[in-house]
Amino acid sequence: MENHVYAERRRVLVERLQHSVALFAPVDVGNSPCGDVNTFFYFTGLRQLGLACCIMPDGTSILYVPRYRSERLRWEGDSIIPSLEVAQKLGFDSVVFLGEECTRFSVSLFDPAAIWSNLLGDLKDWFEKGLSVGWCKHPLGLRFELLLPELHAHVVSIDSEIAHLRRRKTKVEVGHLTRACDITALAHEAAIYSILDKSPNELTVRAAVEYLFTEHGAALAFPSVVASGVNATVLHHKPANIAIEKNDLVVVDVGAKFEGYCADISRTYPVSGKFSDRQRYLYEIVLSVQEAVAEAACPGMFLRNPEEPEKSLHHIACAIFKEHNLDAYFIHGIGHYLGLDVHDIGSYSEPLVEGDVITIEPGVYIPEENIGIRIEDDFWIVSGGAVCLSDSLPRSVEDVERLCAEIKTI
Ligand code: GLY
Ligand code: MN
Ligand code: MN
Repeated sequence: MENHVYAERRRVLVERLQHSVALFAPVDVGNSPCGDVNTFFYFTGLRQLGLACCIMPDGTSILYVPRYRSERLRWEGDSIIPSLEVAQKLGFDSVVFLGEECTRFSVSLFDPAAIWSNLLGDLKDWFEKGLSVGWCKHPLGLRFELLLPELHAHVVSIDSEIAHLRRRKTKVEVGHLTRACDITALAHEAAIYSILDKSPNELTVRAAVEYLFTEHGAALAFPSVVASGVNATVLHHKPANIAIEKNDLVVVDVGAKFEGYCADISRTYPVSGKFSDRQRYLYEIVLSVQEAVAEAACPGMFLRNPEEPEKSLHHIACAIFKEHNLDAYFIHGIGHYLGLDVHDIGSYSEPLVEGDVITIEPGVYIPEENIGIRIEDDFWIVSGGAVCLSDSLPRSVEDVERLCAEIKTI
C-alpha cells in the first residue's frame, strides 16, 4: 500500500467523527496482541505493539512510541519502533514518547501509568477542552479506565465508523486479496499432491500447504484445517498425526495472508481421487447451494438477516438444504466478511455494499457417515452481483476428479 493511503484513511475517519479524538493502541498481553492490531495497521501502516496513535479533529495525527531502553533494541533490532523517517512518510504530524522509560520487554496492559504518562496527560488536556475520545472497546480500554478514571465519561465508540471504512475495499486491497486467493489455490494443489501420496497424513498435508504459503511470501490467515473422515465434521479440527484413510473425504480449509489481507478457501477432496456415489450426491447439493447463494449475492442483500429472510444469504442456503432434508447438517453461517481479519469487521444485519468482500461457504457434516463437506470461496461484491476471487481453483465434481487425476501423474 502506498504511504499516503494511511493518512488519507485517517482524514476520512475524522470527517466521520464529531469532536472526538480517535485513539488506537494495540499492546501485548502475554504472547497475543490485544487491541485491534489490524485496525491500527489500517490507519497507520504500522504493526508494532506498544505504539499508540491519536487522530485529532483537525485531521493532524500524533504517533506515540514507547521509550525503550537501548538494550532492548539489541535484543529485538530497531524495527520494534518505526524511525522518524518512516513516521513522516506515513504522514504523522508529530512523533512523541508514550511516557517514561519502559524497562520491560514490551508495553503491556499491566505496565504502570508512568509508561503511558504523555498520552494520559494529553487525553486529560483534551477532555478539559471538551473533546471526547473514540476507540474500539477492548481490554486495553478497561485498563485505561483504571489509569485515568475520568476517561469513562468521555469515551465514545467508533466501531461502526471503522467498520464502514474497512468493509469497503479499494482496488488495491482487492488486488492483495486476489493474490492471497491465488497463493491459496496453489497451496490447495500442494494439498492434493500430499493427499494422493501412498500414506497421507493430516500433518503432512498441512505442512505442504504452509510451505507453499511461505515460499510465496505469505503468512497464515488462520490456523489451517485439514480434517479427514469423521474429523471433517468438526469445523475447526486441528490437524493431528492421523493417517488419512483411502475411501474418506478430506476437508482442506486454508488461507494465505498476503500484504496483511486474508484468503479463506475450503475444498473437499476424495482420497481415492474419485467421489463415491453418496459422497458425490452430497457434494453436488453443497455445490448447488454455493452457486445459488453466489448468484443471489449483490448490494442490498444481507449475509444473515432473520428479519428479511428473502434477502438473507444464510436463509437462502438453509432453504435449499431443507429441500434435501439436510438443513440439520448445515451447522454454521453461510459466510463472513473478509479482509485484514479473516472474519473481518462489519455487521451482518447491514446490507451488502459495493466493495465488500465475503466468503460463501456452505457445508454438510454427518458424523454417523464419517462425512464432512465444505466448499468455500471468496467473493467481491460489485454493482449488481459478486465476482469470485478464488475461481482459479476447480470445484465441480468432474473438475476436482480431473485435477486429482492430473496431479497423480506428477
Ligand atoms: N476458516 C475459517 C472460516 O471458514 O471461517
Ligand atoms: Mn470462512
Ligand atoms: Mn474457511
